[in-house]
Amino acid sequence: MELKIVNQKNITIKIFDNSQLGCEYVAGRIRNLIVRNNGLYKTTVLGLATGNTPTGVYKELVNYHKRERLSYSRVVTFNLDEYYPMNRYHEHSYHTYMHHHLFNETDIHPDFTFIPNGELSASEITEYCNQYEEQIERMGAIDIQLLGIGENGHIGFNEPGAEIDSLTRKVKLALKTRENAAQNFGGIKKVPQEAITMGVNSILKANEIICMAWGKRKAKVIADFLHKDISIERPVSYLHTHANVKLVIDEAAASFL
Ligand code: GLP
Repeated sequence: MELKIVNQKNITIKIFDNSQLGCEYVAGRIRNLIVRNNGLYKTTVLGLATGNTPTGVYKELVNYHKRERLSYSRVVTFNLDEYYPMNRYHEHSYHTYMHHHLFNETDIHPDFTFIPNGELSASEITEYCNQYEEQIERMGAIDIQLLGIGENGHIGFNEPGAEIDSLTRKVKLALKTRENAAQNFGGIKKVPQEAITMGVNSILKANEIICMAWGKRKAKVIADFLHKDISIERPVSYLHTHANVKLVIDEAAASFL
């Protein structure tokens, strides 16, 4: 069952019984956009997220490719973030994640997939980040930006304290973020201290933003996002300034609403 609520702040909230249904809905929207654009020989530009939240979406997108022959050959992707420093072939790099969950399983062109590079030397980062912004701009704009939410309200790796006008840059990770990643990495000491992330403003430039959250663990941040004011301490709250946001959550993540 799906309940649709539209609140006054241009955020459409969709609550699904479970994350599987939510992921199918999100993947379906992406599929429809790609089908339409492919028919017009148009490029589809997707902003992609990592973490546990979007894995079900990628599974469905792979299924569309395998079952329906949906082609991703006209799709260009920009990932939100990558740990820094990070070797792209490290088992916990977002590069590895994206290839495992989506890129290796579809016909997307490797030259059309952009992920922040965690292998740069410190002196190369600023120019690289400016180029990342320029690459997005050259594509026009991101058609659909996928987002997960950190329990501390981060989007991408825009941690509490990130400015609304921030662009792609190197950032320090919040302790909470590193603690959450510690289990995967086999201990907090192995989690990088920094990351390269698209900024809040880079995200807000997308034509449409689909923000997802599953499970009780996200219930508080979802309630704060919807019920509290915009705050630099909760970067997800900046989404209230965007005209076209869909919040797709499951019953558990909606349990404090
Ligand atoms: C990670 C990522 C975010 C992600 C968030 C939530 O650290 N950088 O892009 O949305 O934290 O993670 P998860 O989806 O695993 O809950």
